[in-house]
Order: sequence, then structure tokens, then C-alpha cells
Amino acid sequence: MLIDSHAHTTDTKFDTDRNEVLNRAFANGLEYIIEVGCEPPFWDKVAELSKNEKIYSMFGLHPQDADKFNDELFDKLKTLLNDKKCVAVGEIGLDYHYENYDGKLQKEVFIKQINLALEINKPICVHCRDAYDDMVEIFKSFTGLPKGVIHCFSGSFEQAKVVLDMGFLIGIDGPSTYPKSNKLTKVIENVPLDKILVETDCPYLAPQKYRGTRNEPAYVVEVAKKIAEVKNVSFEEVCETTFANTLKLYNIK
Ligand code: NI
Repeated sequence: MLIDSHAHTTDTKFDTDRNEVLNRAFANGLEYIIEVGCEPPFWDKVAELSKNEKIYSMFGLHPQDADKFNDELFDKLKTLLNDKKCVAVGEIGLDYHYENYDGKLQKEVFIKQINLALEINKPICVHCRDAYDDMVEIFKSFTGLPKGVIHCFSGSFEQAKVVLDMGFLIGIDGPSTYPKSNKLTKVIENVPLDKILVETDCPYLAPQKYRGTRNEPAYVVEVAKKIAEVKNVSFEEVCETTFANTLKLYNIK
């Protein structure tokens, strides 16, 4: 039992061999994949892909696309979120990594989507890059928060502790397998296994064994192996527990 809780296999990088990639994932022991639709031009493609019985979906507007927000788009998002295979609002959040980002707009669009998640009673999958303090400030401004995961976590254990206390889970990806991953190793050591999700965020962030190549859902095995090694538990235990964590968070029966 293993799940890639965060993949972008609708990315154009998979256009020539998507079916082979998906079959390889399922042949490698993955039970399900959660496909993330966070760019409006890909939303329909994600909805179509999630007709596969082993693929679930989530939809949202990525912070780097915050400037595309308008009422019509928001209505379309609401419709997609009603799909029976859609498990969450995501990935949504803040990304201050690139120059000329509009932090004020990103915060507005993030808050709107958290409110939407509360309204429809679905969890959130949060993307946060170089914006940790503002993310926490936004969370603190809510009296009740949806359940959720801080996806592709890259902070310290101290930072993880704050969001864990707010009820969030921590998503661990390929960078945990890189040689200079001391900070993430500490996160893995100290965050209880029942608070961790494994994910690839493919096609990006391939684990060390495949570094420099296109990432794909089957490689989530490497992330689970790393967690097993750091926590000194069996690979099977990591697979089973993170699988159960994902199903519980996303209400997958
Ligand atoms: Ni992603």
C-alpha cells in the first residue's frame, strides 16, 4: 500500500508516455495517485485523468497564478471541486520566491480559497515557498481552519511544529533524499509518522537516485525508503501509515 499524494502527471513533460508512467507507478505498488490541478489551463485535463479509478484529483489556483483570479474562474473552480473524485482544494498558498511577486494579491486569493474549502468542507493542500511567516499569520487569522497538508515541506522542525499544532500534516518529497538534507532529516526524525504524507510533486524534484531526470509517481518509493531509514522503521510501515494518513485526510473510502 503506497500512494503518491501529490503529482502533476498532466504536465506536458508526460505527453509522450503518460500511460506508461502511470502503469509503472501501479506496477511498483502504488495503489492511488492524487493528481493536482492548480493551473486553470490544466484543470479539465486533470478532471479527465481522474476518471481512472486509481486517480483522485484536487483543484485550486496556484499562488504564481494569483493574477489570473476572476469571478468566472472562481465559479469554474467551484464546479470542479464538486467532482466526486476531487478530494481537496489545492495547491493553494504563497510563493515569494521569484521577483515581482504580488504578495498582497497572493494573500487575498489564498484566503478566498481557504474560505471556499471551509464552505464546501474539503481539506486544503498548501504550497508555501519563502513565505512561511505570512502563511502562519493567515492561519492565525482564522478561528477555524480546514484540515490540510503543508505540501513539499522545506522548513525547519520548529516551523513544522507550529503548523502541526494547527492540525496540519507535513508532505515529504524527493529533496529529503539529497545529501544536503540535514534540515529535512530533522523534520522526518521528529514529526510523528502519522502526521506525514509522501509525495513526488513530479515532474519536478526527482529523488537523489534519479536526480536531474524527470520525476514520476513510481519514485515515491525512494521517499518512503528515506523516511524508513531516518525513523528506523520498516519500509512497509512507512508505506502503510502514510497511505492511511492520506486516505484519512482526504476522506477516501
Ligand atoms: Ni505541486
